[in-house]
Amino acid sequence: MNTIKSYIEAHKNRFIDELIELLKIPSISADPAYTQDVIDTSTAVKASLEKAGCDHVEICETPGYPIVYGHKHISDDLPTVLVYGHYDVQPPDPLDLWESGPFEPIIKKTDIHPEGAIFARGACDDKGQMYMHVKALELMNETDQLPCNVKFMIEGEEEVGSESLAWFVERNQEKLANDVILISDTGMISNTQPSITTGLRGLSYVEVEVTGPNRDLHSGLYGGAVANPINILAKMIASLHDENNHITIPGFYDKVEELSKEERAEMAKAPFSLEEYKNALDIDAVYGEASYTTNERNSIRPTLDVNGIWGGYTGEGAKTVIASKAYAKISMRLVPNQEWREITELFKTHFENIVPEGATVKVTPHHGGQGYVTPIDSIGYKAASKAYEDTFGKTPIPQRSGGSIPIVSLFEKELKSKTILMGFGLDSDAIHSPNEHFGIFNYLKGIETIPLFYKYFTELSK
Ligand code: BES
Ligand code: MN
Ligand code: MN
Repeated sequence: MNTIKSYIEAHKNRFIDELIELLKIPSISADPAYTQDVIDTSTAVKASLEKAGCDHVEICETPGYPIVYGHKHISDDLPTVLVYGHYDVQPPDPLDLWESGPFEPIIKKTDIHPEGAIFARGACDDKGQMYMHVKALELMNETDQLPCNVKFMIEGEEEVGSESLAWFVERNQEKLANDVILISDTGMISNTQPSITTGLRGLSYVEVEVTGPNRDLHSGLYGGAVANPINILAKMIASLHDENNHITIPGFYDKVEELSKEERAEMAKAPFSLEEYKNALDIDAVYGEASYTTNERNSIRPTLDVNGIWGGYTGEGAKTVIASKAYAKISMRLVPNQEWREITELFKTHFENIVPEGATVKVTPHHGGQGYVTPIDSIGYKAASKAYEDTFGKTPIPQRSGGSIPIVSLFEKELKSKTILMGFGLDSDAIHSPNEHFGIFNYLKGIETIPLFYKYFTELSK
């Protein structure tokens, strides 16, 4: 057995126990009730980096939650890898759908994870995947095989838009200087077919409010005679897609990059079973934009989805009422070249244009970010590919993901370096959902693969 494997074998129980401790802290960045827990998590991450062998670790204050920064410098002549991850998590609700407490991690076996998986909010996104890097550093340090310089930057606001991180990166270009950025905050195809994420979608997130009459009304006395904001909002939203499920906002597709036939054919080679996809979700058919496949719809095509909608009476029983207001939260996933602020403006103008007489609409933009694509001929990609080949015995497939990590395009702009997305999660790990989990196999495979990335990246950089 090589030193990487034997170190993991000897320490894996502790690696799992340490992650479980981290998962017990409810670091929910979206909810101010958990402020202290988010801060406590940053302290725990700092301590873990010190223990893993960083020369220097600090908590960097920002206008929002702190960023944990650490480094180990070996030589000015060697390349520097900057590891990014996030220690904040999504809110766990709906709580009643969790089979065990979201912050009471337990290990359970599943069909996909026969070796067991850790169930907890943040297990996969991103505490588990971030902590693989901390343990990989410990491993390289303890076995004297850290081949280059390393920097860590772990933030606490990724799930709410990374505003403070953008602030931090703009002010610390020199401190963060690096040759490649390494992130594990995405997924791979399956435990027998690794893949490397080569693209992320951008995002524009808006909230809309439709107002009708100045107060809630009796739906018998007034019904039929005034604009009902909920009816109006439903109609407006429905009109945002046409019969082919194309988005109807004027200009929305203007900058969308169309992939060539060859590129689409290459994409279609990735293993995918539509039957299994439907079965896993209990749906009898997939749905989406005409003339694109499921894998295209969820990666290279932009989308518009309502994420929440409310208004009127939603309590027990029935109440006859026409509400004064109706609301929705809407996300648009964007593809490279679409500029998220421009798309937000196009949405706002269009939505304000289509509101009928008798109602008014207010559009409030939330956060957003640019999409990202990375080439597969870079040293970073090649190093990652070789690392997976060694540990999985298979060449990883490059694949564009539908998710967003908006800060990645900012890294490229501010730090002028490429990001390599070495994800070890699976789509079935239920990130952002009840019963989120992360396979023990995946966690340990990550710890095994990461040191090989460092090795090959350093070798290929010479
Ligand atoms: N780690 C995810 C993004 C992700 C997951 C990308 C799986 C690719 C595969 C990240 O934490 C996330 O949830 N991002 C948000 C955007 C953010 C601005 C809130 C998202 O994609 O909804
Ligand atoms: Mn994440
Ligand atoms: Mn997330």
